[in-house]
Amino acid sequence: MAPAVIRKQLVSSSMLPPQMIWFLMDCVPPKRFQKPYYSLLAANSTDLKSSRVSSSIDQNIGVVGIKSSADRADISSSSMPKGRHHSEDGSNYSKNGTGNMPSSDKSSVSPAALTIKGRPDAIDESSSSSMSRGNPRSLTNNLNKMALDAGSGLSKNGNARVIRSNTEYKPENWMLPGQAEDTLNQLNLAIVGHVDSGKSTLSGRLLHLLGRISQKEMHKNEKEAKLQGKGSFAYAWALDESTEERERGITMTVAVAYFDSKKYHVVVLDSPGHKDFVPNMISGAAQADAAVLVIDASVGSFEVGMDSAKGQTREHAQLIRSFGVDQIIVAVNKMDAVDYSKERFDLIKQRLGTFLRSCGFRDSSIILVPLSAMENQNLVAAPSDVRLLSWYHGPYLLDAIDSLQPPMRDFSKPVLMPICDVLKLSSLGQVSACGKLEAGALRSGSKVLVMPSGNVGIVRSLERDSQACSFARAGDNVAVSLQGIDGSLVTAGGVLCHPDFPVAVAKHLELKVLVLDVTTPILIGSQLEFHVHHAKEAARVVRMLSLLDPKTGKVTKKAPRCLTAKQTAVVEVALQGPVCVEEFSSCRALGRVFLRALGRTIAVGIVTRIIEEQD
Ligand code: GTP
Ligand code: MG
Repeated sequence: MAPAVIRKQLVSSSMLPPQMIWFLMDCVPPKRFQKPYYSLLAANSTDLKSSRVSSSIDQNIGVVGIKSSADRADISSSSMPKGRHHSEDGSNYSKNGTGNMPSSDKSSVSPAALTIKGRPDAIDESSSSSMSRGNPRSLTNNLNKMALDAGSGLSKNGNARVIRSNTEYKPENWMLPGQAEDTLNQLNLAIVGHVDSGKSTLSGRLLHLLGRISQKEMHKNEKEAKLQGKGSFAYAWALDESTEERERGITMTVAVAYFDSKKYHVVVLDSPGHKDFVPNMISGAAQADAAVLVIDASVGSFEVGMDSAKGQTREHAQLIRSFGVDQIIVAVNKMDAVDYSKERFDLIKQRLGTFLRSCGFRDSSIILVPLSAMENQNLVAAPSDVRLLSWYHGPYLLDAIDSLQPPMRDFSKPVLMPICDVLKLSSLGQVSACGKLEAGALRSGSKVLVMPSGNVGIVRSLERDSQACSFARAGDNVAVSLQGIDGSLVTAGGVLCHPDFPVAVAKHLELKVLVLDVTTPILIGSQLEFHVHHAKEAARVVRMLSLLDPKTGKVTKKAPRCLTAKQTAVVEVALQGPVCVEEFSSCRALGRVFLRALGRTIAVGIVTRIIEEQD
């Protein structure tokens, strides 16, 4: 049997404030929500005189469906194989093993807990305390710790590429749906929700019930959890694999696992709920086609999750929607703790419904399912407990998953896969790039251009859920084993693309940004972390071209001296090393950026122009 958890993803990403939702949804908010962030996208681009240097993707061509994952915001992140991360903060926080601990008790987990070790491109956040005092030198020093893992000669590749329109691309028959031997679609399902709501327990239970966790493994988890006085976490431990997660009783990184329903190959992305790990949760959200929002129905716990300041129920729902996910299942968990009360469920349904609608979810895309992961009620079969059976006649969770609409995919575009993880089998000299195909298709023998190195590799084999598969298409979350390429040239944050349709590689960009609630102004020379899809790079603001009116998008001031909170502006940034990037107008997945400093997101934006280097 394949391992239940295929990999754990660790990302360094940005927490977006809830108000960014409309900006990232690319839609016009209702009047009452119209705030400056929306007009960032709506701004009149003629004011910017963008002289596009390179663009290869005609977004109108070859799109199957109306909205694809490639049209979503990509998070800024980088991940690594599991087991290469650990805490540095010495915090001895742990859950009490009995569950339902108030979230306030968890506040001792510091952001520094996620210090990346053992990677040259690590961001050492453990020194961020000095940064938070606003010392620019500390910030510079800190960012300088971001060593560069991009190979040499990269920008040359990017700038010298032959730019071809997607109109020239003709997909082969096998790339399109309908030709497949395997009829099940892959569904990337993010499991999100407030800390301790039972996400991992629910995921573990599902995997166990669906035969993805052996009886032997389950017994082992039960025995070990009991020994540590954390018996109630036995199912969660199927996902929370690391010693640190188990000791602390919290999920820290997204666990990737698979199960099959009647209609889908489901990719479970079990996300952390603790607020300090929202950046990691975002990595799941970025890949999600749909989400299960887990609610703790216990009295008091649902209310804490909905708290506007502290509640991750609110934040996760908003984030998920902002990444373009519009189908959500609300798993109202721990119904056993409220005696399967219909009144409690109705109250949650009413309050949450109002909130989810305000996030932009349509009523028809919200399914609420009362259940108990602990008591196995309403997960993969109708409930057996009469207290629930007496009043609930809707779908059980697995049924609800099968009722989701298949996501729209860009099958007909040239292949594009941002690399989220790289797995190396050094003994055999094998290298695999992991990630979700945003567009196109691959099969063994396909040639891929590995960017930013610019080398061509050949797909040796493909793996989904630890099983070899003959092809992978847009939306599939796969490991792509490559041959004919030096493993060191395949890097997380890179992109696999079609050799004739290379993505751009650049380190000088014009961005349109919205500054978030910063206390320190952004100046020319300010040092930042630049994040795009799974790549991150140290960056410096080199020019401030204009301030834009937040409502109209018109230029209100040329060459401003500084940017302060809530301002919208056009700036140029120089990255320390090149990244794979596209203008937002051509490719949303590679065109959305996040700027961070002091361990916080200070601005979000889009790439408006790739600026050619003057050699
Ligand atoms: P984070 O990933 O850290 O946000 O937590 P989580 O949402 O994954 O919660 P987890 O699965 O770790 O469970 C937290 C606690 O809730 C554990 O003690 C579980 O036993 C308990 N729990 C989970 N599901 C249920 C349920 O259906 N009923 C009851 N009573 N407790 C549950
Ligand atoms: Mg968890």
